[in-house]
Amino acid sequence: MKKVIVTGGAGFIGSHTVVELNAAGYVPVIIDDLRNSEERVLEGLEAILGSRPRFHRVDCTDAAALGKAIAGEGAVHGVIHFAADKAVGESVEHPAKYYRNNIGSLAVMLEAMIDRRIGQLVFSSSCTVYGQPAALPVAETASDRDASSPYGYTKVVCEQLVRDQCQAAPSLKAVMLRYFNPIGAHPSGRIGELPRGVPSNLVPFVAQTAAGLRAQLLINGDDYATPDGTCIRDYIHVMDLARAHVRALQWMDGRAGSTCEVFNLGTGRGNSVMEVVKGFEDVNGVKVPYAIGPRRAGDVEVVYADTRKSHDVLGWSCHHDLRDALRDAWNWQRSLKP
Ligand SMILES: NC(=O)c1ccc[n+]([C@@H]2O[C@H](COP(=O)([O-])OP(=O)(O)OC[C@H]3O[C@@H](n4cnc5c(N)ncnc54)[C@H](O)[C@@H]3O)[C@@H](O)[C@H]2O)c1
Repeated sequence: MKKVIVTGGAGFIGSHTVVELNAAGYVPVIIDDLRNSEERVLEGLEAILGSRPRFHRVDCTDAAALGKAIAGEGAVHGVIHFAADKAVGESVEHPAKYYRNNIGSLAVMLEAMIDRRIGQLVFSSSCTVYGQPAALPVAETASDRDASSPYGYTKVVCEQLVRDQCQAAPSLKAVMLRYFNPIGAHPSGRIGELPRGVPSNLVPFVAQTAAGLRAQLLINGDDYATPDGTCIRDYIHVMDLARAHVRALQWMDGRAGSTCEVFNLGTGRGNSVMEVVKGFEDVNGVKVPYAIGPRRAGDVEVVYADTRKSHDVLGWSCHHDLRDALRDAWNWQRSLKP
């Protein structure tokens, strides 16, 4: 049984990846300081897995504590590094916080990996590295990169750091996954996205509005050059995203020599904000009161993924569609105690 360290494993994408790792026969070990998650995620995971996953409450920027936690695990096969701050708006107000945590935690982890001779890294990147691409769907080779926020630039810098580290230590294999817009939840309703305060992502806001926790959804602009005037994104079910991390580990297992590759993870389709709102109402039989507000600074108009590389090279594709994700998101919202 191969142990895999999952930093940020109590978070939204990390917790779902823990489920998929377990299903694939790995032993996930969560390292998370719970700055943006809660211990009850471990209870949800226990309900799904049948036993509580291994967990260390550690800040990944704390080299001594991280080293101690990893050393205590013995042989470790690989690391999936989710731990990061992720709110674009907050990163504009507090860039130093984002650069320190997102780049700092990765740098500390890479040193720990070299120290412990851990040979595989999967890194969480984002489609924000593309900004508004000139050509759509956007492929990994797109060179017109304007990450448009401090958060986005931390991902650009982290990707470069991973490339540089792979150059310096050829025994290290790395896969960097550029997520598009993860939504949905585990179909059991035991784990899902737990936004703190006002959600900055669309679907949690939609779900909270449908549940009556928010008076209305404010759609940020309906005057974009899209068919219904609202922004278009590539919404991917979090379980499909989670499964891709397992594929990335398996793919690295099959490769001799140094490897450092980047892959898009999306559905390859774009849906507008309005389509998501109407789809949510339709699939769940609920109303989502909304109003149209001004554009939000930094929002790109349209982005969706070219998924050919992840399909052809990783052998991965999505099993779920937008309606599945919106149904699972509502199922999760209803399971939350008010
Ligand atoms: N959710 C998205 O829309 C999205 C899109 C693209 C990329 N990503 C990236 O995916 C990763 C996971 O995102 P998520 O949506 O699951 O976020 P999340 O906030 O739900 O999960 C991140 C987890 O990391 C933990 N964490 C943060 N800094 C830490 C540190 N220094 N030490 C230990 N734990 C720490 C938090 O407590 C949290 O549990 C992040 O790197 C994020 O940038 C997310």
